[in-house]
Amino acid sequence: MNDQTLTAEERAANLKGMGCARKRVEDVRFTQGKGNYVDDIKMDGMLFGDFVRSPYAHARVKSVNKEAALALPGVIAVLTAEDLAPLGLHWMPTLAGDKQMVLADGKVLFQGQEVAFVVAEDRYIAADAAELVDVDYEELPVITDPFESLKSDVVLREDLEGQTEGAHGPRKHHNHIFTWEQGDKDATEAVLAEADVVAEEMVYYHRTHPCPLETCGSVASMDKVTGKLTLYGTFQAPHAIRTVVSLISGIAEHNIRVISPDIGGGFGNKVGAYAGYVCSVVASIVTGKPVKWVEDRMENLMSTAFARDYWMQGKIAATKEGKITGLWCHTTADHGGFDACADPTKFPAGFMNICTGSYDIPMAYLAVDGVYTNKAPGGVAYRCSFRVTEAAYFIERMIEVLAIKLNMDAAELRRINFIKADQFPYQSALGWEYDSGDYHTAWEKALKAVDYDSLRAEQAQRVEDFKAGKTRKVLGIGLTHFTEIVGAGPVKNCDILGLGMFDSCEIRIHPTGSAIARLGTISQGQGHATTFAQIIASEIGLPADDITLEEGDTDTAPYGLGTYGSRSTPVAGAATAMAARKIRAKAQMIAAYLLEVHDNDVEWDVDRFAVKGAPERFKTMKEIAFAAYNQAIPGLEPGLEAVSYYDPPNMTYPFGAYICVMEIDVDTGEWEVRQFYALDDCGTRINPMIIEGQVHGGVTEALAIAMGQEIAYDEMGNIKTGTLMDFFIPTAWETPNYTTDHTVTPSPHHPIGAKGVGESPNVGGVPAFSNAVHDAFRPFGLVQSHMPHDHWRIWKIANNLGMHG
Ligand code: CDP
Repeated sequence: MNDQTLTAEERAANLKGMGCARKRVEDVRFTQGKGNYVDDIKMDGMLFGDFVRSPYAHARVKSVNKEAALALPGVIAVLTAEDLAPLGLHWMPTLAGDKQMVLADGKVLFQGQEVAFVVAEDRYIAADAAELVDVDYEELPVITDPFESLKSDVVLREDLEGQTEGAHGPRKHHNHIFTWEQGDKDATEAVLAEADVVAEEMVYYHRTHPCPLETCGSVASMDKVTGKLTLYGTFQAPHAIRTVVSLISGIAEHNIRVISPDIGGGFGNKVGAYAGYVCSVVASIVTGKPVKWVEDRMENLMSTAFARDYWMQGKIAATKEGKITGLWCHTTADHGGFDACADPTKFPAGFMNICTGSYDIPMAYLAVDGVYTNKAPGGVAYRCSFRVTEAAYFIERMIEVLAIKLNMDAAELRRINFIKADQFPYQSALGWEYDSGDYHTAWEKALKAVDYDSLRAEQAQRVEDFKAGKTRKVLGIGLTHFTEIVGAGPVKNCDILGLGMFDSCEIRIHPTGSAIARLGTISQGQGHATTFAQIIASEIGLPADDITLEEGDTDTAPYGLGTYGSRSTPVAGAATAMAARKIRAKAQMIAAYLLEVHDNDVEWDVDRFAVKGAPERFKTMKEIAFAAYNQAIPGLEPGLEAVSYYDPPNMTYPFGAYICVMEIDVDTGEWEVRQFYALDDCGTRINPMIIEGQVHGGVTEALAIAMGQEIAYDEMGNIKTGTLMDFFIPTAWETPNYTTDHTVTPSPHHPIGAKGVGESPNVGGVPAFSNAVHDAFRPFGLVQSHMPHDHWRIWKIANNLGMHG
């Protein structure tokens, strides 16, 4: 069939544009072993670097003896802080305005800290030589508890001693980093004092780690002839890395090419700058050869950016009918040895002030104290927008605790307090403007889907049976309604190290009507090559299959702030639509010229411009593209391309209703997820299949975090979960089936109405699993316990409640 005979619907379907469950184009390469990751990069004469790491969590480094290592055949160099100091590279700036040692400068502050960098002809020699570097340590007292840290005489950061002012305001103790306050303290305390009911609880979100399948790494190649540095690496924000490398090395930005090749998962772990990146660059400059550094799994877990570690003391006030009147939260944030959190500059505790969640809470106050301890630095958004997961977990636990205090059903308590659809755009007590939402509709759909009333009846019967000795299994119904905040910018509020958080897309249409689009973002498995082509297909009427997508090369892609915190769709997705619309505007003029009518007399029709009232007279986008290059059009430059730098007016606020039904054996602590229902609303849905995949992956990560995954330390600061033997990664065996569902409430300010989705399932999943555990024991008197809910901790809950007889 030709274009004349196809209906508009058929032509639209052929484009595989927005709304189509288009298969992932990237998977042809990935499933055939044709991915190109950092460790696949091989260059002539390439050397390999490896770190000597501290076995101690806190120690003075008295001396480093390199002799034996340098004597090993194949070893080229051993770098220490002394070697980096003349270049000013022995410390580096962190994303949070602090500074961090690249190599130990006088002392170490966490186990696994980088002490020396060995460069050798192959990675095995480098590893052997690292063993031969003789470091003389003097152990110092270790602090792993942030509350103790604020009371201790031990000064962790001697380099900051006497500094009463930090990057985010006054420091009140030598181990204190900042205090960040939001909301009205006095008014909130007045509400709490007058309330009918106040529930108070300490909610701890334990330290965990994004643990991407591919660890971090880089290959640096300094060409001394051209003066050009090429840096391949696992970077979630390649342009930001280029700017930072330029600022700290003094190499002009046009002489630095940063390339993120394929990335095997990031989840926030690959946002920050690591000592390995700096050392590979320095080693390449020193040796004149390309230098590769790729960490192993234990190094990744032990030294790269962790997530969470928030102690959240909460108070929630309500009337006796259950209307919430106020929320108070004080958070103690354990940032480890350096403040290397990845948060926008003005938000030292990220978007923790979204902790009022999905609820219309008239008065609220939040204070966050950042604290140094002898743990690894980091504090990244592990598959969430900056600290939103902590905020969502906090409010969803506080709602459950309040429901217990009020002796009320937790689903009903949520229903009473949701922000109503007609209240959007909604101004929260802690300063956000929620763009759109319809929480009641999503909630009722979710409760109906799982037949909530029947589940509650079954649970009540189960309690009876347990008490009668007929069963040893209890039943929990974990409810969650979360609101995310994704899509940082806007630039006026959001920057990292002064770099404004806009994003970009450049589209170039080729004469024969295919296209290439380049973006400032970088996919780490999210399928951007598939979905962003779909946006363009719908906007300009060329088939998605004819559109190539390129990301991650700073020499070719327009400047952007990268991919994390579900910002790709809200920001770069918007830039993509805007760039496409610029192309369509030019195409309209070309079409009008070709059809010999005025610009205003043609209208857009799926993949073409047609004369108004005469749809049989049209020019397809393919025809227009050819004419754009090959036909002299008066008043118009040849060519058909556009670039858009998009500074979003607001964030987007995706939301969801998740329900987890869990069976728990009180004698073994074993749990089984019987049902997991996830309803997500991410506004306009670009690719339903990809969204479902994002939800499956994110809920599985949430399962891991809630039910076992943690970075734990002993009192000496030894990491206890530094291998995958101890750090829980769910396999197919532990992963349950999920039911996904959706509602669609478009973002009013996004060009295509889309909100982000990638992080939502982690944000909503963790409280759903945790609430299921709590709910199972609620009839037996449990109010609050700490994650992760591994078998041992669950057994202890049952034991403490006297359920073992
Ligand atoms: O920034 P990141 O790519 O991690 O997250 P995202 O913007 O939420 O997008 C994750 C994937 O889901 C991308 O391939 C998006 O294009 C897709 N997506 C979608 O199809 N529809 C939406 N409304 C949001 C995301």
